[in-house]
Amino acid sequence: MTEESYRAVYARSLQDPEGFWLGAAQAIDWDKEPSRALDSSAAPVTTWFPGARLNTSFNALDRHVLAGRGEQDALIYDSAMLGIKRHYSYAELTDLVARFASVLRSQGVGKGDRVVIYLPMIPEAVIAMLATARLGAVHSVVFGGFAAAELAARIADAKPAVVVTASGGLEPSRKIEYLPAVAEALRLADADHTPVIVKARDGFEAAVGGRGTEYETWLDWDAELRGAGRAEPVPVAASDPLYILYTSGTTGAPKGVVRDNGGHATALMWTMTNLYNIHPGDVMWTASDVGWVVGHSYIVYGPLLAGATTVLYEGKPVGTPDAGAFWRVVSDHRVRVLFTAPTALRAIRKVDPEATELAKYDVSSLTTLFAAGERLDPETYHWAERVLNVPVVDHWWQTETGWAICGNPRGLEPLPIKAGSPSIPMPGFDLRIVDGMGDPVPPGTEGNIVLGLPLPPGTLMTLWGSDERYVSSYLNAFPGYYTTGDSGYVDADGYVFVMGRTDDVINVAGHRLSTGAIEQVLAQHPAVAECAVIGLVDALKGQRASAYVVLKSGAEMDQEQLVKELVALVRRKIGPVADFKQAVVVDSLPKTRSGKILRKTMRQIADGEDYSVPSTIEDAGVIDSLLPILRPVQPG
Ligand code: COA
Ligand code: AMP
Repeated sequence: MTEESYRAVYARSLQDPEGFWLGAAQAIDWDKEPSRALDSSAAPVTTWFPGARLNTSFNALDRHVLAGRGEQDALIYDSAMLGIKRHYSYAELTDLVARFASVLRSQGVGKGDRVVIYLPMIPEAVIAMLATARLGAVHSVVFGGFAAAELAARIADAKPAVVVTASGGLEPSRKIEYLPAVAEALRLADADHTPVIVKARDGFEAAVGGRGTEYETWLDWDAELRGAGRAEPVPVAASDPLYILYTSGTTGAPKGVVRDNGGHATALMWTMTNLYNIHPGDVMWTASDVGWVVGHSYIVYGPLLAGATTVLYEGKPVGTPDAGAFWRVVSDHRVRVLFTAPTALRAIRKVDPEATELAKYDVSSLTTLFAAGERLDPETYHWAERVLNVPVVDHWWQTETGWAICGNPRGLEPLPIKAGSPSIPMPGFDLRIVDGMGDPVPPGTEGNIVLGLPLPPGTLMTLWGSDERYVSSYLNAFPGYYTTGDSGYVDADGYVFVMGRTDDVINVAGHRLSTGAIEQVLAQHPAVAECAVIGLVDALKGQRASAYVVLKSGAEMDQEQLVKELVALVRRKIGPVADFKQAVVVDSLPKTRSGKILRKTMRQIADGEDYSVPSTIEDAGVIDSLLPILRPVQPG
């Protein structure tokens, strides 16, 4: 723990960002040290550490080997799906990454080229990310629960030089064949020529090399690696992109959040010590997926930059095999910090409310449980704190920010925890609550959460290929501020409470989805004239998507059959991760006179909240006719 109080550190970060972040940057090994922190010369697109050079993969791997910790565990792969555990030391992981980087290079990948990674939770996912970074190339990891069309959208936007994948992923109820999805995605994206490298896994139907199949020319990971030499880290500019991570916006087109190398490494290192209180040799387990930002930052980069040990878990909180799975992993690997999503805790609590499974394991290594991805509701917070008897820390962040906007800095000055709040702003985040006009609101009043510019290092630089979309999505609504898209309030003690989104983004089981994207898919059904999708409160998953569809005149369809077809369509076009199961046919949708659907009013009615009907409504009778339809579908 440091001597400085949170208040002093936070104040310093805003008053002297240059000094603050140049100081933090000393925890990184630079090929060329930074002499300046912020570069605003191309504002509003700002970058960090102009002129400085580094390699992120070197910082995450080689430097720990050079420091004499080559034999320490870097990565522990624990697959509850296969019942296996495998340890990788820093020396081994460095070697594998250097060799896979050489494989990528032999396929033409160089600095700035993109590599799309569509892999399940296996060590090759981490290796592929770090190997890409080693070459100064740019990875874009796509979550395995997305369907071919979503993968195609990302391939079309990122235009990768290589795609890296595996035979498939394992879900408790089924095996997911990846190769047909990758082939379809490449076709849809008009990118069939792209080289594909496949990690073969047992038990899948499709395999590379099969004569006459579309996978005939694809490459086998293991075969390629066998003969490969080692590629050395390529120093890049601090502001060169490390990765693109696509996330849901308010439209169907995903946004490619661009992260830099230097700011990212600096910010994550700061968080490892000051927020998570993790040091070299400590074990951190983030139970998320490498396809999400939480996985990027705290399965892969954060723990490895810090020289800690990270756990890569292939499994679920429940059912693999039981509700003790998380406690088993904590016990087996002496996990010091566990980070997961509230929905996972709710899933465990539902099955094992008294945490009887917990008593079977020695979890004394655990110091703190961190939660993010959605609000940690007070009930779940109190439950987790009671059964685990360690501090339970909610922290709030977004794909865009890459690290916590608000948190409770356990390594700096652990502050009191308030249920329902992710605590206080982290350094560099100048957080304000404003009304619709951009005017500040008093403590305790809910409003838009905005962040003063510039954002600190490690946050998004821009959106891939579109500075314009970056500015219009985040910077235009409140000049001088980044719009988070979340609403909330700050209490009299300065604690922030994040209450929900102000836009059409919903959060299902910690997964961020766009209702607009689901609507676009439903509109493709031949019987659908128009539709509205809203997020309803769900006791387990936080929210779930519910659709209200108006049929084309003359379209006659059995409702049950229609719902089946709509569910199948969303699964095929977006993926199982949308968890879309609920659709209702209605005569018409409530709209303003300018044609805007009153989704917020519909959601308020369905969730049993007080609702408001704007005076600009086109036909108030529509709301009356919807009341009996919206109310019965609320969770029981
Ligand atoms: N590949 C393919 N399919 C996947 C997948 C993946 N990587 N991940 C999930 N799916 C599928 C599931 O099998 C399920 O399919 P089904 O409809 O055929 O059953 C569907 O997507 C919905 O998955 P999910 O919402 O995850 O529900 P679940 O019932 O399988 O599991 C929880 C429920 C709570 C255990 C699970 O949602 C969970 O662990 N959530 C934590 C999320 C998280 O870590 N988020 C990261 C942000 S920090
Ligand atoms: P994602 O980009 O997928 O990480 O989703 C980011 C969104 O999830 C945020 O804008 C919030 O709406 C929500 N979110 C994430 N963490 C929290 C949290 N701790 N409290 C409240 N909302 C959260």
